[in-house]
Amino acid sequence: MTTSAKPGCICGQKSSHLPHQNRGDKINARPSGTAPFLLHPQNLNTPLDWRISELPLKGEWLNLAAGDGRYTQELLDKVDSLTAVDIDGVALKKLKAHVSGRDTVLKTQIADITKKLPFQDHSFDGVLCTGSLHLFSKSVLRKIFPEIHRVLKQSGKFVIDFAVDIKRQYQNPTAGAKKIKPNYTLRSAKALLETLLKDYNIQMYTSEFADDVSNIEEFGFITKGKFILVVGEKR
Ligand SMILES: C[S@@+](CC[C@H](N)C(=O)[O-])C[C@H]1O[C@@H](n2cnc3c(N)ncnc32)[C@H](O)[C@@H]1O
Repeated sequence: MTTSAKPGCICGQKSSHLPHQNRGDKINARPSGTAPFLLHPQNLNTPLDWRISELPLKGEWLNLAAGDGRYTQELLDKVDSLTAVDIDGVALKKLKAHVSGRDTVLKTQIADITKKLPFQDHSFDGVLCTGSLHLFSKSVLRKIFPEIHRVLKQSGKFVIDFAVDIKRQYQNPTAGAKKIKPNYTLRSAKALLETLLKDYNIQMYTSEFADDVSNIEEFGFITKGKFILVVGEKR
């Protein structure tokens, strides 16, 4: 098991600085025989930031719903330019504070990813979106994905994750368990992603995660679940 004390988490909170764990990845769907943009099977058990280091990322990248900066440094270390977008300007300020080194290639922009993205067609070589897509309903995702498609160049790459089967264990039994909405199952999310990504060569993996915020009074729970990681290339 690996733990990374990175900014951000997948548990459905807004941006945070909580530890994030994942483990036990395996290939489980539609590996593409043709896409060169694939992860080496030997490295499936590594956390995503290591895999980002492995992936052949270059050119101009867009980080959608970037939050306060998880994976930003790993991306910046590889790509030529990175545009980080979020609806929350405070999170973007924190993101800027978290990175070091090549910050001249980092741009931040406040934008709502459920609306038309403020970029021209075919602007980016790649799009990363982590910890966020599972927060949106199917009908909203059907607006977000075409926008990703529009701003990606031909043969553009993407790396996304999607949390599923999320459960919260409250440490204080009297705490009112809040329903997590939407909460996709692994099966429904895979089917949805397959449909939304029909114009891409994709590779999907599943992992588990656990975010322990039980010692923080305002939260007081452990969130557990699975997530799907998808890497792909626009056909
Ligand atoms: C759980 S955080 C994930 C942040 C980061 N990508 C990560 O992996 O840690 C979800 C992020 O989505 C952003 N967000 C939520 N709704 C959004 C929207 N409509 N447009 C842009 N960003 C949004 C939040 O502000 C928050 O930063």
